[in-house]
Amino acid sequence: MKPFDLRCEYLNAPVGLDVLFPRLSWKLESLCRRGVFQSAFHILVASSPERLAKNHGDLWDSGKVESDASVHISFAGVALESRARCYWKVRVWDEAGNASEWSEPTRWEMGLLNPADWRAEWIASSLAGGHRSIVPAPYLRKEFTVDRPVASARLYVTAHGLYEFSLNGRQVSADVFTPGWTDYTKRIQYQAYDVTALLNPGVNAAGAILGDGWYCGYVGWNNRQTFGERSALLAQLEIEYADGSRSVIATDPSWKTTFGAILESDLLMGEIYDARREMPGWDTAGFHDATWNNVIVIPDDGVRRVGMRGLPVRRQMEIKPIAIVSQGPGAPIFDLGQNITGRVRLRITAPAGMTVRIKHAEVLDEKGWLYIANLRGATATDSYTCNGNGEEVWEPRFTFHGFRYVQVLGFVGEATLDTVTGIVLHSGMEATGDFECSDPLVNQLQKNIQWGQRGNYLEVPTDCPQRDERLGWMGDAQVFIRTGAFNFDVAPFFTKWQGEVADSQSATGELPGVAPRINPWKEVDDGGPAWADAGVICPWTLYLCYGDTAILREHYPTLKRFLDCLEANAIDDIRCHPDWTGWMGFGDWLALDGGDTFGSTPKDLIGAAFYAYSAQLMSKIAKLLGKPDDAAHYTALFEKVKLAYQRRFITADGLVVSGTQTSCVLTLQFDLAPESMRPQILKTLVGKIEKNGNKLGTGFVGTSYLPHVLTQGGRIDMAYKLLFQKNWPSWLYAVTQGATTIWERWNGWTKEKGFEDPGMNSFNHYAYGAIGEWLYSTVAGLDIDPAAPAYKHAMIKPQPGGGLTHAGARLNTLYGELASRWEIRDETLVVEVVIPPNTTASVCVPAAEDSLVTESGVAAGQAPGVIAIGWENGFFVCRIGSGTYRFETRQNVLTGSRAGHIECGRQAGVAL
Ligand code: BGC
Repeated sequence: MKPFDLRCEYLNAPVGLDVLFPRLSWKLESLCRRGVFQSAFHILVASSPERLAKNHGDLWDSGKVESDASVHISFAGVALESRARCYWKVRVWDEAGNASEWSEPTRWEMGLLNPADWRAEWIASSLAGGHRSIVPAPYLRKEFTVDRPVASARLYVTAHGLYEFSLNGRQVSADVFTPGWTDYTKRIQYQAYDVTALLNPGVNAAGAILGDGWYCGYVGWNNRQTFGERSALLAQLEIEYADGSRSVIATDPSWKTTFGAILESDLLMGEIYDARREMPGWDTAGFHDATWNNVIVIPDDGVRRVGMRGLPVRRQMEIKPIAIVSQGPGAPIFDLGQNITGRVRLRITAPAGMTVRIKHAEVLDEKGWLYIANLRGATATDSYTCNGNGEEVWEPRFTFHGFRYVQVLGFVGEATLDTVTGIVLHSGMEATGDFECSDPLVNQLQKNIQWGQRGNYLEVPTDCPQRDERLGWMGDAQVFIRTGAFNFDVAPFFTKWQGEVADSQSATGELPGVAPRINPWKEVDDGGPAWADAGVICPWTLYLCYGDTAILREHYPTLKRFLDCLEANAIDDIRCHPDWTGWMGFGDWLALDGGDTFGSTPKDLIGAAFYAYSAQLMSKIAKLLGKPDDAAHYTALFEKVKLAYQRRFITADGLVVSGTQTSCVLTLQFDLAPESMRPQILKTLVGKIEKNGNKLGTGFVGTSYLPHVLTQGGRIDMAYKLLFQKNWPSWLYAVTQGATTIWERWNGWTKEKGFEDPGMNSFNHYAYGAIGEWLYSTVAGLDIDPAAPAYKHAMIKPQPGGGLTHAGARLNTLYGELASRWEIRDETLVVEVVIPPNTTASVCVPAAEDSLVTESGVAAGQAPGVIAIGWENGFFVCRIGSGTYRFETRQNVLTGSRAGHIECGRQAGVAL
């Protein structure tokens, strides 16, 4: 057994970390042996690779620690200083006390921890533009001399707006849209790069291009300049020489600036580039910059500079068009075959001065033209003017679009499938999971969900990537986060975003609808029920999926202020009481249940339900963090709100006020009804669905919980009916219409009406993709035990149905590969399970009471490493440790409802 994939704060060898006690994690190499777990570990952290090689942990030597913990071990060595380089490795002991070899060494490096570490000044061009006038992108440069051999060099860099930084004509990284999006009035990220290899002996040149980005470009529906009037650069290059001496090249008044080929660049509007204005060699030594201007120095605004917590946006994939759908004169339309977020790389040969305009759209209209009405104010058009030097290849720098179709206007010559290439951009997140089953439409749905996530996890979890919005909508983020955490490792992404949520809190405790806020000047911003509550739900979900308690601890004060605010604003313990004069929220957004865009579930019902839910989550969080008084307070608050909810919204006969599907769903999901009334409420819910032609009537709020509530209530048959419904509203309707992402509206386009209201009709909105969680956790059966989160103890409970003949999912957890796959063949159900080392699982195999269940050919109770618990409500339950298992059982009834919600041996962390 050998530790591998060593991580520091979820990241692989991060540079520029400002977490003082970073957490270390590793995986254990999986052997075929069953029941592998770690009984002890030993971590060494050294200040040099040589010391580490000699097993001298001068920064930290944990000694042998008896523990099965292999994730989130907090560094507990000497106080780390700015720039500290930490080299580390780990060895472990298995369950029998055998020691492993040391892991391969890895490292992390601290960033600039003190404001005094910064010597750089903010520099900019003098031209700022206005609220609606975009100015060209400034190019900045500076030469400097390296006169001694270099041992190492680091660049610490950030910008107001966006930057692309190069040394001697080579970009310092492949990161895109750095420094990333934060509320720039509260904090700004900087990046740290190891640039040792980019320096030359003698004269060197540093260059940077600035884009407007979120800082001073158009953002949401705002005009330009939300956070400040102009882009600016702040950078310092720290060189350490072989003789031990150091020097710093920092941005200061000696830098020069001019404008180049980028005439305009805006995230929403697009980029305008004139290749005739390129300045070859501008970022290399010896370039003649006598005509360049002096930069201006901008006073520092005092905003906190922080190291990166998440992974930057990068080019993640390239996509070739599948067809040219229209060859109108000079205006070919390319079909990428996939709705993506990013931009295209253009390949063109044309005379100097010829301009092409590249337009983007998600869909085509009935006539086969680009449908762009739904982009609202985002012109999403790039423009390129040729320099005439043969074949020219161009990709814009500081913009992105949401599109499947691309039209190149003004194109001369023969367009081919090589004329454009789609470049997919999203935040760095590793793919961790997949779901697959016997139904092709459901498989396409899963693909669409993953594409929705790729397209909208760009710096912050956005609602959509195409129109003039693209904001960190909190409601959307919370309904989808659990699904997101199956498909990709989203821990670093949400760790960063939770900082934005905290920064967005009003002084009086309200949390907003979008984070980062785009109205930083507004005193109070309340997102309302289900949106503001993302502040609690998202970190809680990170705890469940990744066992992360640090995020709960770090943000506990924010969460508490939020709950205080809810308590202060509730009337008769009801949030959004009609007598209250504040913002009532977005209701059950876009539900097609007879209401307006808010749906027809009463807002005070949704308000009270989420008030109770947040209180309940807070009681769990407080308990976890060792705050018993707070835990007791929030438990009592939950009970109090629950009673108020019952008084106001549930009749003595168990009918929920309004009777909408969502009202029933929230009541059941958040445990708001007396136990005795649950069957009646479930019956009402199922009746409503049936009367609606086996179709759902839920919006953003109710949809994510709906299949879970039905499953828990023993009506998984109805959940499957909804899954397989092909008329709208349903998940598969859009799939049958050729969708390649999740639509914002159930009825974004219909035969009867055509396109829905273009004012709000995105074809890449992941919220309804929250069904993904149910596919993974219920259809394939990969679930979490909240008492042993991060799948330290997994709950494997596949639930076949809906006529599927096989389904399965895999998930690369913090401990390694976890998988569950089932197949029905000749009335035999086979369930194959993979459990990573150092974890355990409870497995529930659908099986009739007392039927024969085998594991790898022997009676399951006698199989090695399998502890049989017995039969519970139609499942054979057992506990297992790591390894690969194959259960088999013969049965004839695999579909239909199984009564009763069963806990499936839900005992945490059982030692085997
Ligand atoms: C966004 C949503 C968001 C909603 C709030 C819309 O404009 O696109 O996804 O949650 O506003 O109701």
